[in-house]
Amino acid sequence: MKIVLTGSIAYDYLMTFPGKFEEHLLPDKLHSISLSFLVDGMVKRRGGVAPNIAYTMALLGRNPLLLGTVGEDFELYQKWLEEQGVDTRGIEVIPEEFTASFFVTTDDDNAQIASFYPGAMAFADRLSLEQWQKESPDLVVISPNDPQAMAGYVREARRLDIPYVYDPSQQIVRLSAEDLRRGVEGAFALFVNDYEFGLIQKRTGLTREEVLRYLDLLVITQGKEGSAIYVAGQELSIPIVPPERTVDPTGIGDAFRGGFLTGYSHQLPWDLCGKMGALAATCCLESDGPQGHSFTSEAFIRRFRKHFDDRGELDILLE
Ligand SMILES: Nc1ncnc2c1ncn2[C@@H]1O[C@H](COP(=O)(O)OP(=O)(O)OP(=O)(O)O)[C@@H](O)[C@H]1O
Ligand SMILES: [Mg+2]
Repeated sequence: MKIVLTGSIAYDYLMTFPGKFEEHLLPDKLHSISLSFLVDGMVKRRGGVAPNIAYTMALLGRNPLLLGTVGEDFELYQKWLEEQGVDTRGIEVIPEEFTASFFVTTDDDNAQIASFYPGAMAFADRLSLEQWQKESPDLVVISPNDPQAMAGYVREARRLDIPYVYDPSQQIVRLSAEDLRRGVEGAFALFVNDYEFGLIQKRTGLTREEVLRYLDLLVITQGKEGSAIYVAGQELSIPIVPPERTVDPTGIGDAFRGGFLTGYSHQLPWDLCGKMGALAATCCLESDGPQGHSFTSEAFIRRFRKHFDDRGELDILLE
């Protein structure tokens, strides 16, 4: 099954400030604020929603096609993704641009000051699903990205009749109510967390029942409460896999999608897709960063079977 992943592709620059921002803010001088924080730690990480999902799928033996625009600084990241088994033919380098970059500084109280520079991501609407028609994609995933590009992929997927997963998350606030509604109405599936589902209902005016009428599949993740899958008139409740340690929740939702979509790509039953998502999310939570987890398919299956009964079906990951 050929799955095309669209979404942000980014570097995350994470800095730590040994102190408290609060102590340096002068309330009576806010109109002329000028602050520079000397940070004592910085890491640069591979991130972006589409590669995060792709990475987990690749760990489990799949090779989804990544579609996105990047800057001239992407070479090493691309090589690394290829080494993991991700199909990067859909990546276009935009000359003289940087790859989208997220800069965040965290202080001792966990307060954060962040900036996101879209850079090459702002050109994502140049890419078209049409040129991949020849490979007959079975599914396109439309994840947070340049808002115009997201709306364009929805239109194209509908026109070309390619089923798509709508995964608007952080960009819900940036999409027009009309674009959101169109995205939901034409989707094969919607993936959201609980809060985002509330936002979508509010922005589009659609009730849960109305949303369900449009979709074949609705997946709502609920943090440590697990997730709910609505499909074929049924609601399946998927528990979490208890983490052995909690390191960093960044990218947990993407890892869930990677696990779920891997199950889907093997046409596994819905409950197993959800449980694969839950285990992948936990592995992500136990490591640093959205692509810090690592496992073989064998190890994944072994751990899966400690928590869930897959009736032997996960053996398909080894073929
Ligand atoms: N504390 C936890 N322990 C174990 N599993 C968890 C925990 N929190 C979340 N998960 C798993 O991760 C899935 C996705 O989590 P969540 O609903 O928080 O996604 P999200 O809000 O989209 O996260 P993100 O911050 O990555 O956007 C959950 O359905 C669950 O399976
Ligand atoms: Mg999320």
